[in-house]
Amino acid sequence: MNLAKYPRRRYTSYKTPIEHLERLSKLLGGPNIYMKRDDLLGLAGGGNKTRKLEFLMAEALEQGADTIITCGAVQSNHCRLTIGAAVKEGLKAQIIMEERIEGSYDRNATGNNFIYHLLGVEDVHVVPGGSDMPNELEKLAEKLRAEGRKPYIVQGGGSNELGCLGYISCAQEINEQLFEMGLNIDKICCVSGSSSMHVGLLVGTKGLNMNIPIQGVSVGKKEPIQGDKVKELADKVTEIFGMPEISREEIVVDDNYIGESYGAPTKEMVEAIQMVAREEGIILDAVYTGKFMAAIIGMIREGKFKKDENILLLNSGSGYNIFSYEDILKEEVYTK
Ligand SMILES: Cc1ncc(COP(=O)(O)O)c(C=O)c1O
Repeated sequence: MNLAKYPRRRYTSYKTPIEHLERLSKLLGGPNIYMKRDDLLGLAGGGNKTRKLEFLMAEALEQGADTIITCGAVQSNHCRLTIGAAVKEGLKAQIIMEERIEGSYDRNATGNNFIYHLLGVEDVHVVPGGSDMPNELEKLAEKLRAEGRKPYIVQGGGSNELGCLGYISCAQEINEQLFEMGLNIDKICCVSGSSSMHVGLLVGTKGLNMNIPIQGVSVGKKEPIQGDKVKELADKVTEIFGMPEISREEIVVDDNYIGESYGAPTKEMVEAIQMVAREEGIILDAVYTGKFMAAIIGMIREGKFKKDENILLLNSGSGYNIFSYEDILKEEVYTK
């Protein structure tokens, strides 16, 4: 897979570290847990969108865009990083917030919401949960075009074929690092959301014949829907590279730790955030990496990993959004 032929901006000047989480591994009694620290990527606070935006913003600039528009759920990390990328390129940014939990948007909220405004977002539009987001983005783009502007649409989560290149390049980076470290990883685990991280890792590891299975963890949709979503995007990407298809069996998604819904807190998420903070000094987010880690801890306790295997967790972002879950977290943090 020759990624060099795709225009790319650079927002991180180093490989993100792979760290051995010795204390957490010991506490849980194995497996050996390693973490790829993509929470330390560049732009406004790091996180997995930075890798995708390197390719997406390059396309926006090539097309002569003056305004970047994107969408996300209330408190979206993706929106924070997309606005950050627009700032870095001297472009304007507007976002559309999908209010997936009714009444959850508050213009004056803290967390990521505050960062949007700190970064100088030009406008925030709010639509009800379940809206057709690609259509909402297109409507906003049309309005801006009518005003003589040149909008570029970044799809939700940066998840299209081009966005997947971010995690194909991450797979290449991981491959190099594991070789340099002399580390044999048995499984890579990642969040599966808008899905281009999961797809990029599947396609990237397969393209490099790394032979490492990927364990996806859903924080929103149940397996049949999430797995099919991953498959649909993976098919488009493997076709571009002329690679064999990723089979449906290779797409593994755990959906046992979602809780009531996307974004709704769970006690396992609170436990996981506190445990990783106190054992490893790493701050997770409440919507993605907190629930992801809750799933990993749960699967370890259920005996789903071998005690002596090496697993690599993709830390796809820490979160300013914990500040909007402060009340729930505080109950535990100040009492235990
Ligand atoms: C911290 C974090 N992890 C994981 C994800 C999900 O990644 P993807 O959208 O590529 O599935 C997101 C999406 O916004 C995120 O913000």
